[in-house]
Amino acid sequence: MSKIKIINIVGARPQFIKVAPVTEALNEVLGRKATVKMIHTGQHYNGNMSQIFFDELKIPKPNWNLRIGSGTHGEQTGKMLIEIEKALLEEKPDGAVVYGDTNSTVAGSLAAAKLHILSFHVEAGLRSFNREMPEEINRILTDHASSVLFCPTKDAVNNLKREGITKRGKVYLTGDVMKDALVKNSKIARKKSAIIKDLNLKRKKFLLATVHRAENTDTKRNLENIFNTFMDLKEKVVVPLHPRTRKYLEQYGLLKKILESLMVEIIKPVGYLEMLELERNARLILTDSGGIQKEAYLLKTPCITLREETEWVETVKAGWNKLVGADPKKIYSAARNFKPRKEREYIFGRGSASRKIAKIIEKMVC
Ligand code: UD1
Ligand code: UDP
Repeated sequence: MSKIKIINIVGARPQFIKVAPVTEALNEVLGRKATVKMIHTGQHYNGNMSQIFFDELKIPKPNWNLRIGSGTHGEQTGKMLIEIEKALLEEKPDGAVVYGDTNSTVAGSLAAAKLHILSFHVEAGLRSFNREMPEEINRILTDHASSVLFCPTKDAVNNLKREGITKRGKVYLTGDVMKDALVKNSKIARKKSAIIKDLNLKRKKFLLATVHRAENTDTKRNLENIFNTFMDLKEKVVVPLHPRTRKYLEQYGLLKKILESLMVEIIKPVGYLEMLELERNARLILTDSGGIQKEAYLLKTPCITLREETEWVETVKAGWNKLVGADPKKIYSAARNFKPRKEREYIFGRGSASRKIAKIIEKMVC
């Protein structure tokens, strides 16, 4: 009997973190019955945006690196579609798994759907209800193109219901695979990462910030407001700077002033273990990242979200996340005064989402 073949399609930083526990679970659950392969689109390509995660999380080397790189949305997604299709035609997998909401996600799900390959979307059903966000378009299209949808939260299941996606055997509430990754790696991070010491930081005496969303980076006013406020906060703010944001800060002529600031410490993007340690030790996190809002909640660090809306609404309802957009007054006031609620609920499952996903995949392909 020939082996079952599952292919993961990834390309951007958060997808490497999501694919790690799912690959492990697929290998455990399917064992010798299956081969688990990977297509890396090459959307992210710098060492600290890609390879570092493969090394730290011991993710098997991708079988395909399509080296698509950066470009406009149409250009990048179109090139991915062409190259993913070629790889899928050669591999002929029994199932393809896509993750999250990037251009790599939508290209992967569309390529699989057109070839009638059973496709699985991990982190399905998320909605910010802001169609100007490139990710929102990717989410909607991916959910509607994929065969099976794995939702991290109840709200995600309800979002799909509202769009008429209710078919039995299509939508599953599994919990969040990023929780699985965090549960597995936070102890390792404590042991292995020396970043707090290396940066000379003191526990709960600094803020951690990340900014990379198009709505913040692509408008000079928003990016300037955000970084000017960071410089005004009178507390150390550590910023692992996304290459997109660096590019825009340079282009707007803002980078030099920030680099000279004593209160804002710009560092290169860091690995996952370093990031978990920064998040756990920070007094507060300021971010426009999706994944970091969740990690902040899981690590019990209050979060200020530099966006007008979020798809991770549960963290806001739970009283641990506050939306402030790019408004300097709101950012300043929240950074000074925001106090999270004491009581906490399980929002993202119990750390077994990847195993649940692997079992469902097994049932569908074997
Ligand atoms: C992408 C995703 C976003 C996700 C983010 C995670 C889309 C539409 N956006 O945004 O949802 O939250 O990844 O980090 O898919 N660059 C480099 N080196 C790299 C990668 C990027 O220099 O390794 C620079 C390039 O100048 C590039 C820019 O960053 O043009 C943006 O990269 P891109 O992958 O298009 O989007 P992200 O902003 O990273
Ligand atoms: N992350 C990291 N190093 C960094 C910044 C982020 O390891 O310098 C991790 C972070 O811990 C989380 C994921 O990357 O697991 C989030 O990715 P990102 O913010 O790029 O994308 P988003 O989640 O917004 O799509």
